[in-house]
Amino acid sequence: MSNGLEGVIAAETILSDVDGERGRLILAGHDVEELALRSSYAEVCALFLGGTAAEAAAALARGRALGFERLSKVGDALEAADGMDALRAAAAHLPSAAPALEVTGALATLAASWARRQSGHKPLAPDTSLAHADDYLRMVRGDAPAEKARALDAYLVTVIDHGMNASTFTARVIASTGSDLVSSVVGAIGALKGPLHGGAPGPVLDMLDAIGEPARAEAWLEAEVTSGRRLMGMGHRIYRVRDPRAAVLERALERLESSGLRSGRLALARAVERSAEGVLAKKHPDRALKANVEFYTAVLLDAVGLPRTLFSPTFAVGRAAGWCAHVAEQRAHGRLIRPASRYVGKMPG
Ligand code: ACO
Repeated sequence: MSNGLEGVIAAETILSDVDGERGRLILAGHDVEELALRSSYAEVCALFLGGTAAEAAAALARGRALGFERLSKVGDALEAADGMDALRAAAAHLPSAAPALEVTGALATLAASWARRQSGHKPLAPDTSLAHADDYLRMVRGDAPAEKARALDAYLVTVIDHGMNASTFTARVIASTGSDLVSSVVGAIGALKGPLHGGAPGPVLDMLDAIGEPARAEAWLEAEVTSGRRLMGMGHRIYRVRDPRAAVLERALERLESSGLRSGRLALARAVERSAEGVLAKKHPDRALKANVEFYTAVLLDAVGLPRTLFSPTFAVGRAAGWCAHVAEQRAHGRLIRPASRYVGKMPG
C-alpha cells in the first residue's frame, strides 16, 4: 500500500510532466520557464484545450461575461467570508454544459466579484476586449497597469497544470464517473482550498509580515518548527530540489521590479527562503525541503495588488484550464477511477 498514493501512476497524460529529482516542469511540450515568461494565458489555454490563441481568448472573455451574468443567480454564495468557500459555492451555479474555457473565464469574474464585495465595492463588469489577466486584475482593483498584468499573466500560466496534484486528481475522479465538467471543477476547488495544497500563499505572506526583517528570520522559523508547525511555502510531495515554478515567479518579480515597481517583499522573501532551507535541513537532514510555488506566489500576487484573501481563489483561476483539460483527457481515455482499500477493522462475531 502507498500511503497518500505516493509514486502511484493513476493516468497517462500529454498535459504536463513533473520531474521532482531535476526540478523540471513540462507544460504541453514546453518548459514552464519558456511559456510563463513569453506566452499569454490564452495562448497556453489553446495548447491545453485546442484551437487558436484568439479562439481561446474569445472563449475566456465569453466566460467572464457568463460569470457576470450569473451573479444574479448565485444567491448568497459570494457573501461567504472565505474566498474559496465563495468560489466553490458560486461556481456550482454555472451551467453544467458550459464549455471548458467559458467555465475557466467565469471563475475569474466570480473570484474578482467576491473580492470587490469584501472590500465594500460593487462587482465590475468584465471588459471582453481585454486579455484575461488584464481583465481579472481590472475587475479586482479597478485598473490594470500593464507591467502588473504581465506579472499576473506569468503567474496564471505558471500554475495552469502540475501533473496529478490533489485537485487535478479530484477533478479526474469526478469526471471518471461520467459526471459533468462543473461538478469536476467544484470538487477541484474544494481540494485546492486546503493548506497542504493551494491554501498556503496567504499564510506565506502572514509569515513574511511576522518576520518583518531578514535578521529575525532564523529565530522565528526555528521557533515555528520547534513548536511542530509547518513552514508554509516550503516542501513538496514530488520536488526534491527547489520547485522550478518558484524560480519562474522570482524572475517575473525581477521583471516587475526592473520596470520601476518595487514589490516590497522580494528581498525579505529571498532571505527568509535561505533561512527556512537551513532550519528545515537541520530538522530533516534526510528530506530535501525547499521553496515551493506558493512561496513566491505570495510575493508576486501581493506586488500586483491582489488582497491576500484572494490568493487561493486566484490559484483556482489559473489552474481551472488545467482541470478542464484533464477532464477532457479523462473522458477520452480514462476508466472509472476506483482504487481499493484494505480492511483493518473488526471482523463480525
Ligand atoms: N515545514 C516543516 N516541516 C515540514 C514541511 C514544512 N513546510 N514540509 C514537510 N515537513 C516535514 C513533515 O512534518 C514530515 O516530518 P516527519 O517525518 O517528522 O513527520 C517530513 O517533513 C516529510 O513530510 P511529508 O508530510 O511526508 O511530506 P508530504 O509530501 O506529505 O507533504 C507538503 C508535502 C504538504 C507540501 C508539505 O511539504 C507541507 O505541508 N508544506 C507546507 C504547506 C505548503 O507549502 N503547501 C503548498 C504545497 S505546493 C502546492 O500544492 C501548490
